[in-house]
Amino acid sequence: MSSYSLYRSSIFHCIENANTLEADYYADGLMVVQHGKIVELGHYAQLIDQFSVDTRVTHFKDSLIIPGFVDSHLHYPQYRVIASYGATLLDWLNKYTFVEEQKFNDSDYAEEIAELFLDELIKNGTTTAMTFCTSHSQSVEAFFSAAQNRNLRMVAGKVMMDRNAPTGLCDDVNSSYFDSKALIEKWHNKNRLSYAITPRFAPTSTPEQLAQAGKLLAEYPNSQNTKGVLLQTHMNEASDEIAWVQELYPQSKHYFDVYDSYRLAGSNSVFGHCIHNTQDEYQRMAETDSKVALCPTSNLFLGSGLFDLDQLDYYGITTSLASDIGGGDSFSMFSVMNEAYKICKLNGSNLDPVRAFYLTTLAGAKVLNMDDCIGNFEPNKEADFVVLDLNASELIKQRLKSTTNIDDLLFCLMTLGDDRIVNQVYILGQCVYKKMEIH
Ligand code: GUN
Ligand code: ZN
Repeated sequence: MSSYSLYRSSIFHCIENANTLEADYYADGLMVVQHGKIVELGHYAQLIDQFSVDTRVTHFKDSLIIPGFVDSHLHYPQYRVIASYGATLLDWLNKYTFVEEQKFNDSDYAEEIAELFLDELIKNGTTTAMTFCTSHSQSVEAFFSAAQNRNLRMVAGKVMMDRNAPTGLCDDVNSSYFDSKALIEKWHNKNRLSYAITPRFAPTSTPEQLAQAGKLLAEYPNSQNTKGVLLQTHMNEASDEIAWVQELYPQSKHYFDVYDSYRLAGSNSVFGHCIHNTQDEYQRMAETDSKVALCPTSNLFLGSGLFDLDQLDYYGITTSLASDIGGGDSFSMFSVMNEAYKICKLNGSNLDPVRAFYLTTLAGAKVLNMDDCIGNFEPNKEADFVVLDLNASELIKQRLKSTTNIDDLLFCLMTLGDDRIVNQVYILGQCVYKKMEIH
């Protein structure tokens, strides 16, 4: 029996040639998978003859296969915070988020939410994410264990926060360093898991804690054979947050300078939001090769502001899109793309649909330093993919009747799509989710 798994469908993914983004689309495509990895991708008619006639082909009609989405910034403990009414960032943190996050000192609770969260990611077609946990080590243990059991490629980290929050959430300079280090030793680069050092944001860390985070980051750099740990935090999300940072760190030139001066900038560092950056901050982010996760649904939901993708492009900063659950109000990367499009519109530009799918797949992988193994269907990458059912929504089905090209198809999906069209999800070539048919 052949060890190849063959999938016939329309197939789309993004590729980059000499830094130029290209859409690679097969109206009648074939994807060849073996041992959980992509072997080959192409036109069905051109590839099929090399396989013996008894090789089984899974044929998805009226479907589109795309790479699993990569969500580069979100908070699994905020699963039950989503859709909390009437607050802007700092009030929202105090009123809802810090209250919920205290519950994660209970491992059972953390395990329950980790499972629910992963279920929700998968049913939305998101196969890789970088998530904040809480300041409790057990919240990280619960998340990594759940992700490992499902063979998922995931990044997570223990939140470091030692001030300006309830006692139940505060760690201290020493424990945050040693607890994070122990978690790195246990989980980083184990199977498909990676660790991200996670100072929440400058206002909830003392300068001493940020210094320890920088020390830790320097202790686990990229080397020839191993990937170093990542770093995730928030920056320039809301005006009152920025003013507060200036008060707390009066010597700093600007918000990014706080992180930069504690050695937290660099190619393994992912800064969420960055919507009120100054020119000097963009410049310094580019110089340090720091990465950005834009969170349009969250920025609109919390009324934080509008990102500026043109500026990020101008400075050549590697950028991705993310849901920021539970500041964001949807797990669906279709929603995230939809809102990103509207933010670009308000800034006087159009977000090209191929670029939008790039920002939620290959660019997400790049931001997480994982574009060597996920993000598109290049040979030897891991076969994490999603089968979209183009008939699942009557409106999409009808709208697609007037579609003549892949750009229009993608734009229709990013505008009208949601979890209803996510029909099947594959992890390392294994089907882990099939949408229930409701008649
Ligand atoms: N800034 C600090 N913590 C958070 C958080 O949990 N969510 C968002 N959106 N911003 C933050
Ligand atoms: Zn966030």
